[in-house]
Amino acid sequence: MPKIRLLPDVLINKIAAGEVIERPASVVKELVENALDAGATAVTVNISEGGLALIEVTDNGCGMTPDDLKLAICRHATSKIEKPEDLFNINSFGFRGEALPSITSVSQCTIKSRISGAASGYLLEISGGELTEESETGCDHGTFIAVRNLFFNTPARRKFLRSPSSEVRRVVEVVESLAVSNPQTEFVVDSDNQRLLDLSFAADKIERAKQLFGISLADKFVRGERSGDGLHLEVYLSKPEICRRSRSRVMILVNNRRIESKALFASLTSAYGEFLTHGTYPQGAVFITIEPSLVDVNVHPAKSEVRFADERIIFHTLYHLVRESLLGGSALPGAFGLGQSRGYGSTTQLDHQGATRQSVRDFFGQSTSAAVQSEESLATIFGKPAADTADHTHSHFEEAVAHVASVPTEETGSPSAAYVTRKALGISGEIRFQQLALMYVVALTADSVFIMDQHAAHERILYEMAMKSLAARTITGQQLLFPVPIHLEPNDFYTFNQEQETFAALGFSLESFGPRQLQLTAAPAILAGKNPEILFRELLDDFGGITGDSQKRFQKKAAAFACRGALMAGDRMDEPGMRALFGGLLAAENPYVCPHGRPTMIRLSKDELDVRFGRI
Ligand SMILES: Nc1ncnc2c1ncn2[C@@H]1O[C@H](COP(=O)(O)OP(=O)(O)OP(=O)(O)O)[C@@H](O)[C@H]1O
Ligand SMILES: [Mg+2]
Repeated sequence: MPKIRLLPDVLINKIAAGEVIERPASVVKELVENALDAGATAVTVNISEGGLALIEVTDNGCGMTPDDLKLAICRHATSKIEKPEDLFNINSFGFRGEALPSITSVSQCTIKSRISGAASGYLLEISGGELTEESETGCDHGTFIAVRNLFFNTPARRKFLRSPSSEVRRVVEVVESLAVSNPQTEFVVDSDNQRLLDLSFAADKIERAKQLFGISLADKFVRGERSGDGLHLEVYLSKPEICRRSRSRVMILVNNRRIESKALFASLTSAYGEFLTHGTYPQGAVFITIEPSLVDVNVHPAKSEVRFADERIIFHTLYHLVRESLLGGSALPGAFGLGQSRGYGSTTQLDHQGATRQSVRDFFGQSTSAAVQSEESLATIFGKPAADTADHTHSHFEEAVAHVASVPTEETGSPSAAYVTRKALGISGEIRFQQLALMYVVALTADSVFIMDQHAAHERILYEMAMKSLAARTITGQQLLFPVPIHLEPNDFYTFNQEQETFAALGFSLESFGPRQLQLTAAPAILAGKNPEILFRELLDDFGGITGDSQKRFQKKAAAFACRGALMAGDRMDEPGMRALFGGLLAAENPYVCPHGRPTMIRLSKDELDVRFGRI
């Protein structure tokens, strides 16, 4: 019979660390929360190698006395709760007294702290949970913690982590989540000597949210507020036109603590309903303030989930608040995602914007800021965006695809891909074109009918171009009439820095002119009908989420470019455009499938018709 024994503290802490400290961002979260609980008005985070090599957090909070400091690294040592009832009235981020012992048990730490008025500070060095040094030290008032070589003694955990760049993203996300609920505190995040976040004092949460989501985009957000039943809800959410592909750009905060809640997220997205196009999500923040006794925050090791006494009322209130905020008029004018084109799109596209606005205005009897509209009326407008968006031709398009068709695809000497494909498909003589349902292009040859999916076909063409251009920079940029200023959020800025070369290869020119401030001066000439800023932001979004080995990443970037740049269902095409699309597709190296594996065209030959009609 094995003997039962009490585990030593070092081992207990290491086990607890497995739950609380999952990755560098968890360390940052715990340390910044401690700084905020200590009343800090300025918090600085500095990381290197995604936080695996080093995480430093400096605050100007109340600091700790030497005795408190030594207690703080012990398990279950906390200044935040005293008695059982306190668990149901928590007003601080921390309360378990677990974070510091967990962190120190899986890293090599230096902590320095000084309370205001003390002549000097105190320093502790801890390695793998063992105190190795303590001494008086000179330091500013507040606390400084350096965490080196995270998981050095738990290699399995270290292996499980993703690339440093995705860890950096998570760190920024964690700090942003804490910053939004602490607007009056200044935050700085540096990663390998690059400043990713720099937030100055903000008057309130909404001002802080504006800083985070970009002051320049503030008019593309809606606000709403509602109180009652011991509950206060406030939302600051993006209008549909700037919704993103990432789910994580929506922060849901309960009593200032960011939480994950599938149910609340679902309530939010269902409130957007038909405003959202498939696969996009809103961005912004939802602040839920509720009496602490009506919510249990002690249900998850990292405190990232909570349990409400009555969930339904919160879902219900959130749903209606979001719905009303979106319908309050301000979300409507640009709701088709075409509101930002500046001097770059074709005139037809601009006319189309006008037409869309007009139709919305007509519907609402001139005033788009009219109060809440009924659900049915909304469905009437948004139920048929495809028909609306169909009203413009892509005059830029023929040139673009004609250009592709003329791109040599084979080494000199061997027959071109277009020749090979034409021969394989037996295409000769005159071809007639017709667009079907603004989605398919029908090409009628002497003995076959080809039906192309216009999006998939264009995607294939652009994909091959992008693959070539990423290797040899063959896509040229077209100078914009008016440069477009673009303010980037920290994570997007980080992605941009990582992907500068990629953007250049794809034909974008961007100049930096201030912190996280860029100027877009040229965009891919072949996509001249697209709004360059939207295209750039969509690609940033896509590139940020790309993982895999370098070849995979290469392909995924080309696929993202193709997908974002390609014609959509609902885009009207004229005859030269359809001809160019067909020619471009035949010239592709693999004309039959799009980068995602869907077919680009199907063929109905005379022989097949003969069989179907029972002639043979
Ligand atoms: N930056 C800081 N400034 C001042 N005091 C701090 C700081 N960090 C930690 N402390 C003190 O150390 C104690 C232990 O911190 P620790 O994070 O381990 O636990 P906690 O915050 O109380 O609870 P939790 O484990 O839920 O975070 C805190 O209760 C607080 O008194
Ligand atoms: Mg804590």
